[in-house]
Amino acid sequence: MAGWITWAGSAHFPLDERGGVIEHPVRVQARGRKLEDLKHLEQAGAAILQLDITDGQQNINDTIAKAISIYGRVDVLVNNASYISIGTWEDLEYGDFLAQFDTNVFGTIKVTRPLLPHFRQRRAGTIVFISFLSGWIGHAGCSAYAGSKNCGRSLAGNRTLGIKTLLIEPGRFRTKLLSKNKMKAVISTIPEYAEFSKTRVATLSKEDQAQPGDPVKLVETILDLVRQEGITEGREVPFRLPLGRDVYGDMKTKCEETLKLLEEWKTTIRSTDLEE
Ligand SMILES: NC(=O)c1ccc[n+]([C@@H]2O[C@H](COP(=O)([O-])OP(=O)(O)OC[C@H]3O[C@@H](n4cnc5c(N)ncnc54)[C@H](OP(=O)(O)O)[C@@H]3O)[C@@H](O)[C@H]2O)c1
Repeated sequence: MAGWITWAGSAHFPLDERGGVIEHPVRVQARGRKLEDLKHLEQAGAAILQLDITDGQQNINDTIAKAISIYGRVDVLVNNASYISIGTWEDLEYGDFLAQFDTNVFGTIKVTRPLLPHFRQRRAGTIVFISFLSGWIGHAGCSAYAGSKNCGRSLAGNRTLGIKTLLIEPGRFRTKLLSKNKMKAVISTIPEYAEFSKTRVATLSKEDQAQPGDPVKLVETILDLVRQEGITEGREVPFRLPLGRDVYGDMKTKCEETLKLLEEWKTTIRSTDLEE
């Protein structure tokens, strides 16, 4: 499928190691908060637009209308923009939770809504949601982020009128997510949590730029999935796909634990229906 991909939060669109844009017969539209951060993509042929997904709905509607007008249509929306908030429940303020959900959940909703009429009228369009393993496992000290990423999983379930959704659940990928100026970490001031909190943030900071996942390979795989090419040839494209060696192991363990739980508690689980 050749077409028009609009990538919200496009810092890592695949420039390969040689610095060139990986060649795909798609026209890419990159959207980010700072246009200067997207210049390299513009030089490589993408149309760029300024967009902060926490803006008011009207501003976002206007940007989406502009996006559609550039090439006359949009085929794929990738809801990629996000940041990670780290801290225990007691240490994060209500405002920290709000800000996390404002970007990772409500921003996604605000960008997706104005594209839906365009997709519905054409009975075509793909919406990609980027979730995370935390949504499955609930890593400690990561509740705000995990909760917000779990919402992405639920939002992606809504498919109708020729509109496809694709849920990507990446493991740990080497991007700027955990970098000092991107990750929002609160170190606990509560004695009971202090040691755990310090270690958690130190571990994540150490993980920055040591993650095993290659974001270029991740994006290439997403492109294959939405264009139904390459790795998908002869196979049905799944609705959701975890990506990353780490996620494979962790998710398999979680599934096995869940199956065990279902068996061990089968009688109780099946005991709560009304007696009809
Ligand atoms: N890296 C991983 O290990 C990993 C694992 C699982 C899932 N993910 C998910 O993958 C996606 C991409 O993240 P990444 O790892 O590539 O991290 P990243 O390097 O920090 O990229 C995140 C992008 O989102 C943009 N963004 C954040 N808030 C925004 C807003 N309000 N409006 C518009 N753009 C905004 C950032 O723009 P600025 O540059 O302006 O901040 C940046 O371009 C995210 O959804 C993340 O949750 C990442």
